[in-house]
Amino acid sequence: MELAVSIRKLSKKYGDFLALDNINLDIEEGKLFAILGPNGAGKTTLLRILTTQFEPTAGEAFVLGKNVVNQSEGLRKLISYVPQEMSVWTDISGYENLLIYSKIYGLPTATRKDSIKDSLELMDLTDVANNLVSTYSGGMIRKLELACAIMIKPKILFLDEPTIGLDPATRKTIWEKLKALNRESGMDVFFSTHYMDEADNYADEIGIINRGKLIKVASPDELKRSVGYDRIEIETDSELSKHALADLKKLNGVKKVELEGNEVMISAKDSAALLDVIIECLLANKVHVKKISARQPTIDDVFLKYAGAKESKKAPVQLADVKRFRDRIRRG
Ligand SMILES: Nc1ncnc2c1ncn2[C@@H]1O[C@H](COP(=O)(O)OP(=O)(O)OP(=O)(O)O)[C@@H](O)[C@H]1O
Ligand SMILES: [Mg+2]
Repeated sequence: MELAVSIRKLSKKYGDFLALDNINLDIEEGKLFAILGPNGAGKTTLLRILTTQFEPTAGEAFVLGKNVVNQSEGLRKLISYVPQEMSVWTDISGYENLLIYSKIYGLPTATRKDSIKDSLELMDLTDVANNLVSTYSGGMIRKLELACAIMIKPKILFLDEPTIGLDPATRKTIWEKLKALNRESGMDVFFSTHYMDEADNYADEIGIINRGKLIKVASPDELKRSVGYDRIEIETDSELSKHALADLKKLNGVKKVELEGNEVMISAKDSAALLDVIIECLLANKVHVKKISARQPTIDDVFLKYAGAKESKKAPVQLADVKRFRDRIRRG
């Protein structure tokens, strides 16, 4: 099978700063590939190199068998890229944006109108095609950017945080469309995201990058299995005493116990078998359990294990998302 992406010992420096550090990666054709990593990990830098916008400092990268440095011209005809920042003009209509892109990409005049019509339909934008983009919502703008990228029928679509700041329903619609294009037209998708559920639900393979190093590449299921431990979460009516904590740690099968106020998080081998024992242990320590739940590892746990940080769903990250999304619109 041909490789969609093949990267060998690739590094990128900005001045003295090593943004990508000796990356090796092969991705087979036909896949949806997600790259996950904390802010500043190197995702955008990698996407920019693969889409021929930046040259690596060392090593090589091939996309569809073409070298991204010395075969970049031929390669650009086969790929599309939707950047993290906004990439459409807001003072003209959606239709006019697509028309400009169709000319930039050199789509044949005879089929141009049909290509634009198909892309608008695909992204549910037909009804608003003639409205100014400045009147679009964030989700509509992202769909228009995707319509522009998909119009040329790329062999690989590179997306940098394609759904940032969008509501869950719009994110789902966009992903279902991309998945259908992947399955029906064989379009590969290489995307970065901070949404763990997107990587889990839609990617065939996930790569985890941290501080410029590619730490792990595997399918979502393999990654979750590699965490090795289930998570048991307990809410108690009071903070655990040192004695109770020590008792929990001693239980057979318990790997790790963490405390956060009245919440106890336990990593354990076989959570189902342990629940009763844990409750008994807490009762013996006169701790009242308000809530207890057990679950298999999620991609959040994977992220925690390999990138050393949890992608918080709480306010700070959402605020950062909104700020970055606003910056995108302002730049447009
Ligand atoms: N043009 C540049 N000049 C200097 N340093 C840069 C440049 N672009 C990126 N960097 C640095 O390289 C590192 C990787 O940046 P990059 O944008 O690739 O990260 P990222 O994983 O896309 O982060 P985010 O999730 O915030 O988008 C960061 O420390 C960033 O500050
Ligand atoms: Mg980025």
